[in-house]
Amino acid sequence: MTFSQEQVIEWMQGVREHPDMINAFWPSQVNSKVWLSEWINSYLPGARKIIIFGCWYGVLADIIKTKRPEADIVCVDKDPEPIAWTEKKYESYAIDMRDYVYRDPVSCVINTSTEHMTQDEYDEWYSNIPGGTYFVIQGNNDFKEPDHVRATQTLEQFNNINRVKNCLRSEYIEYEGPWNHVDNVPTTYKRFMTIGFKDHDRKN
Ligand SMILES: C[S@@+](CC[C@H](N)C(=O)[O-])C[C@H]1O[C@@H](n2cnc3c(N)ncnc32)[C@H](O)[C@@H]1O
Repeated sequence: MTFSQEQVIEWMQGVREHPDMINAFWPSQVNSKVWLSEWINSYLPGARKIIIFGCWYGVLADIIKTKRPEADIVCVDKDPEPIAWTEKKYESYAIDMRDYVYRDPVSCVINTSTEHMTQDEYDEWYSNIPGGTYFVIQGNNDFKEPDHVRATQTLEQFNNINRVKNCLRSEYIEYEGPWNHVDNVPTTYKRFMTIGFKDHDRKN
């Protein structure tokens, strides 16, 4: 995928203002976001309003917007630091995703931070999604990162704990990193992704 000169300059400005944003640019991070944007293009070509929960510094929002300039993207993250960056460009909310109130019709919700949430937090977020809404979720099998409280070993486990129904597609990719710099040995992890939609007739 190709990014514009303006987009690269904007991202570098983001890193200057928020040094932690550099972590959103590991190859695995960028590659998994491009992978997701390809599924949005294939499965939801008409999607207008897209909400990204656990949006972090909005790199996924920028990637989707590059492919789909007409998309209306909303960013939600409980951490006010990344939201101070995303709100310059997108409608943004510094709230826990469980507290998001759906007012207008939404085409699709995205959550690539499923491994960062407890089961209760995820279930509350998931049950709040309006019936019929498409969802795209990602997670991984990286249990070493202390923030990863809900990593899974397999794609099947990933779909089970994330309450997936009405699955359109579900796959994983393998990626390198973070590196063991002492022995210079790369580690390999799996990133899981599933697209589906909520049942129409009830909340769960
Ligand atoms: C490290 S980042 C992104 C990691 C993810 N694997 C990715 O590649 O997009 C995780 C983000 O999820 C956010 N987050 C975690 N739990 C949340 C919640 N309950 N509501 C809103 N944001 C949440 C964190 O604040 C953080 O910005």
